[in-house]
Amino acid sequence: MLMRVTIDAFALTPDVAEVMKAVRDDRSFAKARMEVYPGGLAAAIAQYHNKPSPQVIVVEEDEDDATLLTGLEDLAEVCEPGTRVIVIGALNDIKLYRTLMGNGVSEYLLRPLQPRQLMDAVATLFADPAAAPKGRLVVFWGARGGAGSSTLAQNLAWAMGRGQPEAVVYVDLDLAFGTSQLAFNLDAKQHVAEALANPERLDAVLLERFLAAYDDGLKVLASAGEVRQSPPVTFEAVDKLLDLACRMAPVVVVDLPHLWADWIEHLLTVADEVVVVTAPNLASLRDTKSLLEALVTRRGEGAPPRLVINKIDAFKKTQLSPKDFEETLGVTPSLLLPFEPQLFGQAANNGQMLAEANRGAKINEQLSAFAVQLSGRSPARKGGAKSKSLLDWLRK
Ligand SMILES: Nc1ncnc2c1ncn2[C@@H]1O[C@H](COP(=O)(O)OP(=O)(O)OP(=O)(O)O)[C@@H](O)[C@H]1O
Ligand SMILES: [Mg+2]
Repeated sequence: MLMRVTIDAFALTPDVAEVMKAVRDDRSFAKARMEVYPGGLAAAIAQYHNKPSPQVIVVEEDEDDATLLTGLEDLAEVCEPGTRVIVIGALNDIKLYRTLMGNGVSEYLLRPLQPRQLMDAVATLFADPAAAPKGRLVVFWGARGGAGSSTLAQNLAWAMGRGQPEAVVYVDLDLAFGTSQLAFNLDAKQHVAEALANPERLDAVLLERFLAAYDDGLKVLASAGEVRQSPPVTFEAVDKLLDLACRMAPVVVVDLPHLWADWIEHLLTVADEVVVVTAPNLASLRDTKSLLEALVTRRGEGAPPRLVINKIDAFKKTQLSPKDFEETLGVTPSLLLPFEPQLFGQAANNGQMLAEANRGAKINEQLSAFAVQLSGRSPARKGGAKSKSLLDWLRK
């Protein structure tokens, strides 16, 4: 089960704590992030009041079945939707087992247990590739050339990598003119064009080799940025590449080139988040309008692109206002960024992120707040809507 999955395990007894630690330290769980805590179900409930829940929660519980069910309902209150729960207990009661299994608990394991049983239970949860946890795909599109789309994609990917237990992956799909090597000051040995050249050979191991680490929080699949050596991109290759990347990383950020092709249209349609970066001028407004109109039919009303207006006040006298954009597009911009040539120029020249070039810059706060929205990390609800996967039946 060499895959990324986040697991919190709450033990009551020393024996089960040992089993959980053995699973955590097993080689096949090397890519999983697993934490072992004491305190059983009660500790799990306390934990997620102000912290997002992981993909899998394992709880050991000794209480009678009525208390166990009430406790699990309390846990459902504070969990993210889709969280899987495995319960470890000592009640060898087929009725209880059926009740739990039939109503949202993924597995009930009987004590005493071996590490292998717990490992199998977790692996079974994700045996179907469709059920495997996938990272968010966030694509960036510049309304017109030079809007700042790549620079913002780079900085936001880096900012998202700060808050994640695993590295975010940045894929520069601007094969001809991509700036990722310069922006991250990388000397990448292999580039995105090579990764796309033989899609049938591409797998997780190979992709890992193509990635260059910028720091602990960010890995980059760079573009050589050589116009004469940029082969055409195929739909299938890009799909395979990004599917693999999304299995490896919690967030995959894609920098799209400013051109129109079927594979670009496809990515703008299927991505979890589309960020449209525009400058505040008339031509950019026109292009943003036609893109948003095209996307609304493809993506539906539910997943609107997020609009970033960049380089505000570069041309104070002639620029359009955020209100002009809002009224024309019917979309409230998610982010308004000032024109700061000094800061952007310095970061670009140093091959650094903005927050590294100037820690105190105000724009950093805006970018990190937007990064939280993009990565989809929301604090656990308190008493809000219930988790669909867990004990919904108790509500009925
Ligand atoms: N808010 C800003 N203030 C000042 N300069 C900026 C700002 N945002 C971006 N820039 C600068 O604008 C230039 C173009 O940025 P970038 O390459 O990110 O744009 P792009 O939309 O990706 O362009 P392309 O269409 O070539 O892909 C860069 O030099 C970048 O440093
Ligand atoms: Mg670009």
